[in-house]
Amino acid sequence: MKIVSPDDFRLLAKNRLPPFLFEYLDGGANGEVTLARNRDDLAQVVLDQRVLRTVKGPDPSVRVASMRLPLPVILGPIGLAGMNARRGECQAARAAAQHGVPFCLSTVSACSLGEVASSTPHPIWFQLYMMRDRGLMAALLEEAQTRGCAALIFTVDMPVPGIRYRDYRSGLAGLSPLAGAIRRIGQAVKHPRWAWDVGVRGRPHVLGNVAPLLARRSGLEDFMAWMRSNFDPDVSWSDLEFVRRHWRGPLIIKGILNPHDAREAAALGADAIVVSNHGGRQLDGAMSTARALPEIAQSVGDRIDVLVDGGVRSGVDVVRMLALGAKAVLLGRAWACALAAQGERGVIRLIDLIDAEIRTAMALNGACTVDEISGGFDLPRDVRGAERR
Ligand SMILES: Cc1cc2nc3c(=O)[nH]c(=O)nc-3n(C[C@H](O)[C@H](O)[C@H](O)COP(=O)(O)O)c2cc1C
Repeated sequence: MKIVSPDDFRLLAKNRLPPFLFEYLDGGANGEVTLARNRDDLAQVVLDQRVLRTVKGPDPSVRVASMRLPLPVILGPIGLAGMNARRGECQAARAAAQHGVPFCLSTVSACSLGEVASSTPHPIWFQLYMMRDRGLMAALLEEAQTRGCAALIFTVDMPVPGIRYRDYRSGLAGLSPLAGAIRRIGQAVKHPRWAWDVGVRGRPHVLGNVAPLLARRSGLEDFMAWMRSNFDPDVSWSDLEFVRRHWRGPLIIKGILNPHDAREAAALGADAIVVSNHGGRQLDGAMSTARALPEIAQSVGDRIDVLVDGGVRSGVDVVRMLALGAKAVLLGRAWACALAAQGERGVIRLIDLIDAEIRTAMALNGACTVDEISGGFDLPRDVRGAERR
C-alpha cells in the first residue's frame, strides 16, 4: 500500500499488529463517544481561505515553554508503544530527532528511560503519572533529570484507568495469566512479521521503567495489574508541589479540559498545559479537545502555553488546532501507527507528510507564521479577527 496520507499508516498497523495490541492502540473508553467526538469536532473547524498575501515559505516554527520547535508538533506519550516495533520507543525517538521534533517517553513504556535517552543525540521529554509509590516517582524524576530530559509532561487525567471494552474483547485484559498468554500467542502466530520482529527479536517485553520493581513478576498481566493498582486516586492540586520539588526543568500538565483547571495549573507555576482527554480513553462523554480548546486558551491568555491533542491525524488537523488557539499539538495514535507499520522509517515519513501539509495549509490560509493562522468554529467572528491583523 502506498502511503500518501498520514492516516494511511493506521490500516497498515492494523494488518501488522496482533489484535490485542491494535485494539489497545485504536480503542477508547466505554462506548467511545469521546473518541469519536475528538475527530468529528476537529473536522468542523473552518479554516479561512486567504489569497494574494505573499506566503512564500511559511514558517511553522514555534516557541513552547521557552524551547524553539521547528514544527508545532510533539510525539506525545504512548504507553507500550515499544511493543509496536522492535525496541519501538528507541526507533520513534530517533525518527523524531531527525526532524528536531520532541519525543515524549511514557512512564509505562516498553524501553526504559535510559535505553531511549541513549539511543538518540536529541534530548527526549519524559511523561510521568501520579503514582502511589512516591519513592518511584522521585527516582524517575531524578533519572529524567540525569538523562537530560528537556521537559516533563505530568499527566493528571488518570487518577484511575478508564474502562476499555476492546481490551477485554481482545484478550489484553480480564483473562487469567495463562489464558491471556495462550490467546495472545494465538494472535501473534497469525501475524508472523510482528511475531518474529518484535515478539522474538524485540525482547524483553517489560515496562522498562517499572520492571525493576516487579522483579520476576514480569508478565503482561503483572504489568497491567501494576498499572491498575498504582495510579493514585488521592491525587490533588497540592501534589503538584511534590513534582515541582523533584523536577527542575519545564513542567507541562497534561489532561486539562476545563478552564478552571487550566487557570489552576497556571497559578501553580506550570510552564504549559496540554488540553487533552487522553485520546477519548478516560471519561467517555467528556467534551472533545477541539471544543474545549478555545475557551481554555482564552482564559489563560499569555500566562501559560496551551498545547492540545486528540484526534489529530494530519497536518491540516494540526493547523485546525492552531487556529483554535493551541501553540503546538501532540500526536498520539498517528505516530504509534506509523511506528507499527514501518518502524523508524514510518515515523520519519509521517513527520515529512505532516510537515508538508502544515506548510501547504498555512500558505493557503494566508499565514506566514503560526500566529497568523485563522479559522474557528465560528468563522465570521474569527475572520473579522483576521482582518484586523
Ligand atoms: C495506546 C495509547 C497509550 C497511551 N498512553 C499514554 C501514556 O502512557 N501517558 C499519557 O500521558 N498519555 C497516554 N496516552 C494518551 C496520548 O498521550 C494522547 O493524549 C492521545 O493519544 C491523543 O489522542 P490521539 O491518539 O487521538 O491523537 C495514550 C494513548 C494511547 C492511544
